Amino acid sequence: MRAAFASRFDDADPLAALTVGDQPEPRLPDEDWVTLRVTASSLNHHDLWSLRGVGLRAEQLPMILGCDAAGVDPDGNEVVVYPVVPTPGDPRGMSILSEHFPGTLAERVAVPRSNLLPLPAGLAAADAACLPTAWLTAWRMLTTKGRVADADAVLVQGAGGGVATAAVVLAVALGKRVYATSRDAAKRERIAELGATAVQPGARLPERVDLVIETVGAATFDHSLKSAALGARIVVSGATAGHEPTVNLRRVFAMQLEILGTSMGTPDELAALLTFCAERGVRPVIDSVVPFSRVGDAFARLHSGDVFGKVVVDHTA
Ligand SMILES: NC(=O)c1ccc[n+]([C@@H]2O[C@H](COP(=O)([O-])OP(=O)(O)OC[C@H]3O[C@@H](n4cnc5c(N)ncnc54)[C@H](OP(=O)(O)O)[C@@H]3O)[C@@H](O)[C@H]2O)c1
Repeated sequence: MRAAFASRFDDADPLAALTVGDQPEPRLPDEDWVTLRVTASSLNHHDLWSLRGVGLRAEQLPMILGCDAAGVDPDGNEVVVYPVVPTPGDPRGMSILSEHFPGTLAERVAVPRSNLLPLPAGLAAADAACLPTAWLTAWRMLTTKGRVADADAVLVQGAGGGVATAAVVLAVALGKRVYATSRDAAKRERIAELGATAVQPGARLPERVDLVIETVGAATFDHSLKSAALGARIVVSGATAGHEPTVNLRRVFAMQLEILGTSMGTPDELAALLTFCAERGVRPVIDSVVPFSRVGDAFARLHSGDVFGKVVVDHTA
């Protein structure tokens, strides 16, 4: 079957480590696993990390990439994949598809049956394929970790990325005042169209916020600390611009801040997110939909850093 996979690692030029070609049909590691026909997937920064060799070992190559998918199960039902799978031998006891088991950027993918959620009526496969990683992460950052119900104002850093655009759309839909930073004037315009007040990175906000959504890291963390109100939560799920920021601890204790780390979310959180999107008419921000025949272009677009929202791959084209 056709697939997009890491055939080697290249830290300097991850696109050079990507191969599109034939791979063996999925193997079912256990009797409760099933094979899904993938109709749509979406890319994450995680796929670029994998091509760089972060989180994978050479003996795992070739590894089919992709964490996110919507597709059709063996009984003909349209489903969405929860991408965190039990993984004996992994110190975490779990892994995300493409870390240990082959990923979703293929014609077919094997997953435990319990990882399949029904595609809600009214949600297109391309939309659903954006939700299981970036949107689920943003949902958990806002709800379970960030306790957004207790917040009036939210700051989202680096608002062009997949997690960040999700956080802006969801926080606006939840009725919060949302501020979002981006280095790029065109992206700031688009963030404003989503209902946020868009500002330059580091800009002083008109008010302190109760919740900060951090995926940028070193480049924005000081601004996150300075923008946080008394008792605010700074929730971190990524560090695209560096994972060792300088942290002013005086500000942390004097303002009684909570700095919370999080990764992905639970199946129940994904189910809640799917219902929220279906019922509230919330749809993911899609940068572009690329046919599988041009999946390399999709990776190049993500790597360019010039994306606004999710890059979707259409497996039916
Ligand atoms: N833990 C999890 O479960 C989980 C899940 C999904 C993603 N992640 C992580 O979250 C991070 C975000 O991923 P993503 O795919 O949403 O987006 P991304 O492509 O990594 O981009 C995030 C944003 O970071 C900003 N940025 C990048 N370099 C910057 C710099 N030097 N200075 C200031 N801003 C900079 C950009 O914002 P502007 O261009 O708008 O300024 C960009 O839009 C990644 O590190 C990813 O690994 C974690």
